[in-house]
This record gives sequence, C-alpha cells and structure tokens, in this order.
Amino acid sequence: MNAPNVQPADETHLAQAGRILRDGGLVAFPTETVYGLGADATNDEAVARIFAAKDRPSFNPLIVHVRDAGEASGYVAMNEDARALADRFWPGPLSMVLPRHADCSLSLLVSAGLETVAVRVPRGNVAQALIAATARPIAAPSANRSGAVSPTTAAHVADSLGDAVDMILDGGPCPVGLESTVVDLSHGTPTLLRPGGLPLGDIEAVIGPLRRAGRDAAIKSPGMLERHYAPGRPLRLDATDVLSGEALLAFGANPPTGAAVILNLSPRGDTAEAAANLFAMLRALDRPDVAAIAVMPVPETGLGLAINDRLRRAATPGN
Ligand code: TXA
Ligand code: MG
Repeated sequence: MNAPNVQPADETHLAQAGRILRDGGLVAFPTETVYGLGADATNDEAVARIFAAKDRPSFNPLIVHVRDAGEASGYVAMNEDARALADRFWPGPLSMVLPRHADCSLSLLVSAGLETVAVRVPRGNVAQALIAATARPIAAPSANRSGAVSPTTAAHVADSLGDAVDMILDGGPCPVGLESTVVDLSHGTPTLLRPGGLPLGDIEAVIGPLRRAGRDAAIKSPGMLERHYAPGRPLRLDATDVLSGEALLAFGANPPTGAAVILNLSPRGDTAEAAANLFAMLRALDRPDVAAIAVMPVPETGLGLAINDRLRRAATPGN
C-alpha cells in the first residue's frame, strides 16, 4: 500500500482535487459535519468507486453535495417545505431526501434504486471551494470504511481509507463533528431519517412536527441499518461509575473518578461542544489496553438526540 496522499486544502490542491474528481477519481474533503469521500455524482463509475473504497453494500444511497438550492432544484423537486428549510438552513448540516426529476443527470447509483436523492449544501469553505473547482455535484458518504466511526480529521481518513482515495484534503477538524440531519420530504409527512448536526427543534420550528423514522423508514433508507459508528471496544452507556479496566467518556462537571483514561465531551455540559468531540474522543479511547468504554449519560436536548443515536448504534453489536 502506498502512503495516503494528504494535502493542505490550499488553492493549488483544491484545483488539483477538482481535476481528480472530474476525471472520475476520489477525493476526501472536510465539510462542517464530518469528512466526506467524494466523487463526481454524475459519473456512475466514479460513484461505484466510492462503494468499493468503503466496502459498502451498494444498496446504500449517498448524499449529493451541491453549491446552492438553485442547483439542487435542477436535480430534485423542491416542494414548499424543502424551499423553506433550504432558505433557513442551507448552507448547513441538513440533508433533504427529495424526488428525482425524470431527466435528472445524477448517477442512478447515488439513489441506490430509490426514486429519490438526498441533497445537501455544505457550509464548510473547503467543501464549497471544492464544489466550485469541480463544477460538478459531489456524491459523498462519510470518509470511513463501512462499520467504522465517521472521520472528523484528515488523519482519521488516512487511517481508515489509506490510499483507497486519490487525495485527502486536510482542512483541519470539522466544527460540527456529527453527520448532517437527514429528513425525508419526498412523500406525505416529513420524516426524520437520521438525527444529526442540525437540531430537530430548529427544523420543526420551520415546517412543524416531523414523523420519527420507525421500522418502515429503516427499510426505505437501508443505510439506517448499518452499524456505522462502531469502535472496536464495547461501550457501556449511561455509566455513572467506572468499572475495572474501563476508560471513561465523561460529560459535564464532576465525572466519577477511578478511570485509567478519561476524556470529557464537554466539562461545561454543552451538547454542541460534545458533538464536535464525540468521534475523535471515541477513537482516542478505543485502545488495546482498554477493556471497555464507559459513557456518561448525555441529555436528550439540543444535539444530545443525535449524540445518543450514535452512541446507541456504537453500543449495539452488529445492528
Ligand atoms: O454530514 C453528512 O451527512 C456526511 C457529509 C460527508 O456530508 N455524509 C454522510 O453520508 O454522513 P453517509 O452516506 O455516511 O450517510 C448518509 C445517510 C445514510 O443513512 C443513507 O442511507 C441516507 O443518508 N440516505 C442517502 N440518500 C438517501 C435517500 N435517497 N433516501 C433515504 N436515505 C438516504
Ligand atoms: Mg456514514
């Protein structure tokens, strides 16, 4: 295996990355949420390379990253709710699942057999500059192998994907640290498919109550079944003490003592700060000398809903 090609996200490398993507290659890049593994969303072969690099089952649809709502409306039908959410939250950590136009130029592979596409306008400067340099929509799942934790730094991407990607643009750590919130607006009642970096309350303030995804949504969105967020060590959730051999992932002031290793998601009890630290701290505690990772309770307020969703997935073997 060759060394991963990690480069600073400067003008020269952004231009080079744009050429790689237009030629059908893969570029990992930072967004405000997590690092994405990007390919030209109009190129079937390039999109197929994403699935190969991630070892991801090919029925899992991908998020397409675009410049703005105007570009999105060229690919998918934006209804009234979608337009209201785009006005308020794009660019930002919100992905909307919408019906493909009949003449949609996006690869059918990004939809994985569905009649819909998840679209998002990322807020990160590097992501926006890369879309501009490529002048194509960019399909990008999180830049980790299937079954691993989403990467929030270029080093995480290099560890997980190595030279399976043509270039890794290093734009520093991702400020949000959690994947985007995914909302299905393609039929009837708007439905939450995945809690994420945009709090649910913010969305409901604009379009009213969202239906929570149940079993049906899991089938409609096969990716929801994936064990995405899994460290190698077992997690013990809602821990209020520390057992022998455990590392502690703490939240708030005055965590219990006794852990050989302790990292605190947010000593001041702020769920946004905790979200930004979540994946990096899970990785840091996932070490051979640790028997298990005890995780203190995180409140279901603000980004706590999304944090707890990720923690439950990480704690459920093979879910
Ligand atoms: O923040 C994010 O969303 C990151 C950055 C890179 O943008 N991307 C990301 O992508 O997390 P990924 O592929 O790891 O997760 C996308 C989720 C999956 O659960 C997938 O099943 C769902 O969105 N999804 C994508 N397209 C869909 C569609 N057409 N219908 C239903 N669910 C869809
Ligand atoms: Mg993912």
